[in-house]
Amino acid sequence: MKAIAHDVYGPADLLELRDLDMPSIGDDEVLVEVRAAGVDPGVWILMTGRPMAVRLAVGLRRPRVAVLGRAVAGVVAAVGAGVTRLRPGDEVHGTCESGSFAEFARARQHRLAPKPANLTFEQAAAMPISAVTALQSIRDAGVKPGQRVLITGAAGGVGSFAVQLVRAHGGIVTGVCGTAKVELVRSLGAEDVIDYTQDEIDRGGVRHDVIIDTAGNRPLSLLRRAVTPRGTIALVGGGHAEGWLLGGFQRQMAAPLVSLFGSARVCGVAARERYEDLADLTSLIESGAITPVIDRIYPLADAPDAIRYLAQGHPAGKVVITVQGAANAPAE
Ligand SMILES: NC(=O)c1ccc[n+]([C@@H]2O[C@H](COP(=O)([O-])OP(=O)(O)OC[C@H]3O[C@@H](n4cnc5c(N)ncnc54)[C@H](OP(=O)(O)O)[C@@H]3O)[C@@H](O)[C@H]2O)c1
Repeated sequence: MKAIAHDVYGPADLLELRDLDMPSIGDDEVLVEVRAAGVDPGVWILMTGRPMAVRLAVGLRRPRVAVLGRAVAGVVAAVGAGVTRLRPGDEVHGTCESGSFAEFARARQHRLAPKPANLTFEQAAAMPISAVTALQSIRDAGVKPGQRVLITGAAGGVGSFAVQLVRAHGGIVTGVCGTAKVELVRSLGAEDVIDYTQDEIDRGGVRHDVIIDTAGNRPLSLLRRAVTPRGTIALVGGGHAEGWLLGGFQRQMAAPLVSLFGSARVCGVAARERYEDLADLTSLIESGAITPVIDRIYPLADAPDAIRYLAQGHPAGKVVITVQGAANAPAE
């Protein structure tokens, strides 16, 4: 099968389109014929091995998994003996173990959910990391109907879902984005938009009940000025922003400690890959309450360009890889 792979950590120039063996699956696993794969900042982290702390999980000197990509949408090609929820032919999306920038991928059954019927594979591949992170951020922050919620990075992969989800939950959204994205963020349901090139998030002294910080580049002191005294700040982003060791994740890790100082609650979001959350999103997707925003779709061979584009930090929604014409169907 064709796949985008690397042997060493480094820039996108080191990625290669290779012919690799098909992944073999265990009892609890599923072989997915990949139709589309999501690109998110986590792909850049796995490609570069930065921040360094991530190498404890994915390989100290070199990547343990050669193929890049986690978010996947495709068709079940084969199932292990212990798989009960899925059958060959099922259309699914979720996260995979063996790399989704490939014609086939190995996934655990509990990380795959049925693909929403009204989505293309590309739209479905946009959801497993970004929409689930947005949903979990909103839950972790305890957003309630009627609350005023400020979302930074509102046009990005996580933010574009968060705006729609808060709105669907009955919250009132103020989105923060650059000038070029103001209309997009408004169209997603934000009642108000702050263009960060013109104003700061504490514009006019207005305070919000909840801040969902996906951009991850505002000091905590500024976030505190924009939240109500008993409000909540959910720290989502900043993963590769600063620091060779932790790359900004120290903000999330320190959140419980930081919460002790000051009246606003600060929570660090650490997204969990759970098919239940994807399944929870399905009714909202199928009712049209939320729709993945796709910025660009790249063919598999151009995955390095997709990563380079995302690394610029300004997508309008999601970047997706399309995988067509899987060459070899698996042996029965
Ligand atoms: N905690 C977790 O479990 C978890 C899970 C997933 C992702 N993340 C992290 O969350 C962050 C966002 O992920 P994503 O997928 O949404 O990334 P993304 O799609 O690349 O979006 C990045 C966003 O950052 C905004 N941005 C860039 N420069 C900015 C600036 N100077 N000021 C304000 N906003 C700026 C961009 O807005 P404009 O285009 O409007 O400039 C864009 O909307 C990343 O750091 C990622 O690593 C964390």
